[in-house]
Amino acid sequence: MQSPGATAQRSPGEFLAGRVRELAASPTLAVSDRARALKAEGVDVIDLGGGDPDFITPAHVRRAAAEAMDAGDTHYVASAGTPALRRAIAAKLRSDNGIEADPDRGVIVTPGGKAALFQAMLALVEPGVDVLIPEPAWVSYVPMVELAGGRAVPVALDPDDAFRLTAEKLAAAVTPATRVLLVNSPNNPTGRVLDEEERAAVADVAREHDLLVFADEMYEKILYDGHAHVSLATLPGMAERTLTFNGLSKAYAMTGWRLGYVAGPPAYIAQLAKVHSHSVTCATSFAQAGGVAALTGPQGFIEEMVVAWDRRRRAVADGLSAVKGLRCPRPEGAFYAFVDARETALSSVEVADRILREAHVAVVPGIAFGAAGEGHLRLSFATSDDALATAVTRIGDVLGRR
Ligand SMILES: Cc1ncc(COP(=O)(O)O)c(C=O)c1O
Repeated sequence: MQSPGATAQRSPGEFLAGRVRELAASPTLAVSDRARALKAEGVDVIDLGGGDPDFITPAHVRRAAAEAMDAGDTHYVASAGTPALRRAIAAKLRSDNGIEADPDRGVIVTPGGKAALFQAMLALVEPGVDVLIPEPAWVSYVPMVELAGGRAVPVALDPDDAFRLTAEKLAAAVTPATRVLLVNSPNNPTGRVLDEEERAAVADVAREHDLLVFADEMYEKILYDGHAHVSLATLPGMAERTLTFNGLSKAYAMTGWRLGYVAGPPAYIAQLAKVHSHSVTCATSFAQAGGVAALTGPQGFIEEMVVAWDRRRRAVADGLSAVKGLRCPRPEGAFYAFVDARETALSSVEVADRILREAHVAVVPGIAFGAAGEGHLRLSFATSDDALATAVTRIGDVLGRR
C-alpha cells in the first residue's frame, strides 16, 4: 500500500539518462576484470589486455612530485594547469613537434589525455554533429562522441591494405553534418603510424570539407623500425583546425598520475577550459610538478622502454605468426600487437574466449575497436619478456602451430 500522497517508486532504470543507459562499459577493462576474477580463483592468467607501461615512473619525476607535496603544494592550482607545466608543454610541442602553442591561452593540462578528449567532445560536439573515426579505433572515442550527443561515423580501414587511411575513404564518409575527424597515430590498436601520404590525405580532406581534426598523439614516442611521428597540426593550413592531444601516461610510465593535455587555437581552448573548470577544476597539483620534471628532465628513460618493447614486439609478432590461424604484422608504433585471426574462422570474441579459457591468456577481441577490428585480437606487449614468451607458447599449444 502506498502512503497517501506518495508516488509510485521508479526503478533505477527509470532514473537513468538515455545517453548512459545504452552505453557499454569499456571492453578492455572488462577483459582485465575477467582476468582478475580468474586469478582470484587461483588460475595463473597472463593479462595482455591492458595498456599500461610495465616500468615505474623515473625516480627524478617521483622525487619532484614528492618534494612538491612536502613543500605544501597540495592545493588547487590554476585551472588550465600550473604556469610551469604549461610552459614546459609549449616548449616540448615546439621542440619535438614543431607546434607553436601559447602556454597561457593555447594549452590545458587535464587529468589524463582521456579527460582532454572528453572535454573537447563536450565543447565541440552536439546532436546533429558527425565525427569521423577511422576504425579500428581506441575503445573510448565512440562512447565519448555519443555522450556528447553526436554521431560517430566509422571509416572502416582494411586489414588487407594494412589499415591504410586514404582520402577516398575519408571523403566518402563525410556528410553535411561532419565537423570533426579524429585521428590517432601511432595507433591503438593497430600499431600503424601514418605515413606522409596518409597524413596528406587527412589534411586534404580536413581542409576541403572544413573539418576540425582531433589528433591523438598519445603514443608519439613509441616508434620502431625508423618510423617517424609528424604532428598533423604542422601540415599546411592545419594549425588553425587541429587540436593536439597528448599526455605523460605512456612516454613516462605515468598512467596512474593522470596527466594529459590538449593544445590548439585559443578560440577553441577557451571553450574547452570552461568544461574543464566546471568538471575537474584542475589536474592534481603535485602531479603537475612531476610532469614538469618529466618533460624538462633527462629523456633517456623513454629510449630504454622503447628498446625493451621493440624486442618484445618482434618476439610476439613473429611467435604468433607461427601459430595456426594467426598472422601478426610487426607493429610500427605503440605497444600493441594486432593479430589477424581471420584464418581461425571464429569470431574475435570466440578466439579471445578460447585463449582465455584454455591458454589462460587475456587478450582483447578486435570487435571492441569497431566492426573493422573483427577477426583480430589485441595483445599488449608492455609486460615482461618471460610472460610474453609463456603467453605465445600457451596460445600455440591451444591453437596449434603452422
Ligand atoms: C589512443 C589513446 N588515446 C588516449 C588515451 C588516454 O590516455 P591517458 O588518459 O592515460 O592520458 C589512451 C589510453 O590508453 C589511448 O590508448
